[in-house]
Amino acid sequence: MANATQYTASSPWHPFLWRFTADLNPWTVILTILLVVLVWDQVRYQIKKQNLPGPRLTFPLIGAFFDSLNPTFNGYLSKWESGPLSCVSVFHKYHLHPLRVITRCRFVVLASTNELSRKILNSPHFVEPCVVDAGRKILKPTNWVFLDGKAHVDYRKGLNGLFTRKALGIYLHQQEQVYDKAFKKWLEISKDGALPFATHFRDVNVATSLRTFCGSYITDEAIDRISENYWKITVALELVNIPIVLPYSKVWYAIQARKEVCKRFEQAAQLSRSKMGKGEEPSCMMDRWIKDMIASQKGTQEGPSIRDFSDEEIAGTFLSFLFASQDATSSAMTWMFQYLADRPDVFEKIRQEQIAVRDGDLSKPVDMDMVEKMNYTRWMVKEVLRLRPPVLMVPYKAKKAFPVTSDYIVSKGICPSSFGPKF
Ligand code: HEM
Repeated sequence: MANATQYTASSPWHPFLWRFTADLNPWTVILTILLVVLVWDQVRYQIKKQNLPGPRLTFPLIGAFFDSLNPTFNGYLSKWESGPLSCVSVFHKYHLHPLRVITRCRFVVLASTNELSRKILNSPHFVEPCVVDAGRKILKPTNWVFLDGKAHVDYRKGLNGLFTRKALGIYLHQQEQVYDKAFKKWLEISKDGALPFATHFRDVNVATSLRTFCGSYITDEAIDRISENYWKITVALELVNIPIVLPYSKVWYAIQARKEVCKRFEQAAQLSRSKMGKGEEPSCMMDRWIKDMIASQKGTQEGPSIRDFSDEEIAGTFLSFLFASQDATSSAMTWMFQYLADRPDVFEKIRQEQIAVRDGDLSKPVDMDMVEKMNYTRWMVKEVLRLRPPVLMVPYKAKKAFPVTSDYIVSKGICPSSFGPKF
């Protein structure tokens, strides 16, 4: 180009650089940068992938973007079946920058055998639980589910008393009342024929959970509001999201929902504190927790002593519990009813066992002794969970290089995700 001839001895650059830069045209620069980025993207993928089964190349820059938008069971299953360890580059985030859209992919290693899944779950030195990015915003970064190491273990200890045999027995009465009401309603609405049932199971699980957590400190109207609001939280917990919370976006609605749900839990906790402070008997999980705290302060607790938890901590904990009960439990329940509809022989055995544990009196209130005698029912539930695990993938993030097998080291920051047990 003409500029190359304009080099003078006073020019600051070496003649070669001068000529090189002077010859550049903007398109060459743009295309070269693009090419370097594309090649680097593939090289980086190959470095992480090593010899794992998985796509030979990753889709440039956006990885499995379209799969992430609409993940399918069969998509994951094909990875799962491709070997004990396999990989996928999952698109999970985009930043809206004034000049461009910045995308981020997360390299995910899938472990599909029982042994590898157990190894990952039992390696807290190497991995920590990993939630979708929206999770922290929706549940709040201070929620106990994001604690790691000793802080997590200590918090978890404070919850043990809520699940002892004695404590579970306290919750049965409220749970049975919710079920009795639901059974009557289901009989009524299905009088004219079959109807889709999954959403009815979710409703009953939300109601049972809220009565278990808050007992009578919560009204039927509040249960309906929480059920409606919590659905907004569930739909916003997606794999792909933008990092800023735009007003009226799914994440924004979910945050508003969390605020309202937590406010109601905090109000219930205050009512429970006042009742337990008067020395009354616990009738729900909140009562049981607060009673344990009061007893620990006085040194009169039955089990190990626990620390004080604030109303905000109590609310955040029940917020996390509610996720499991309205999501995983509803999935399990839906499959359970479908399997029982398909297998009348199994259904009949369950029915006979339920009649037997009640000594033939179907109006007899259920207690823990009866629950413990329901062996066949328990086996059936376990079989449903084995055949259709509601939590298919339990994602963990490597805190440091993690030698997950003798010939594959998961790099720091990469997600080793155990994918269901193999059967
Ligand atoms: C069929 C129903 C359920 C299934 C399949 C299920 C499955 C799971 C799985 C796979 C994990 C992760 C374990 C890990 O990372 O080591 C988990 C964690 C957890 N689940 Fe569930 N869950 C169910 C119901 C529930 C319910 C009803 C509650 C609350 C009342 C609950 C509370 C929790 C809690 C608190 C954790 C975290 C434990 C911790 O980090 O220490 N789950 N669940």
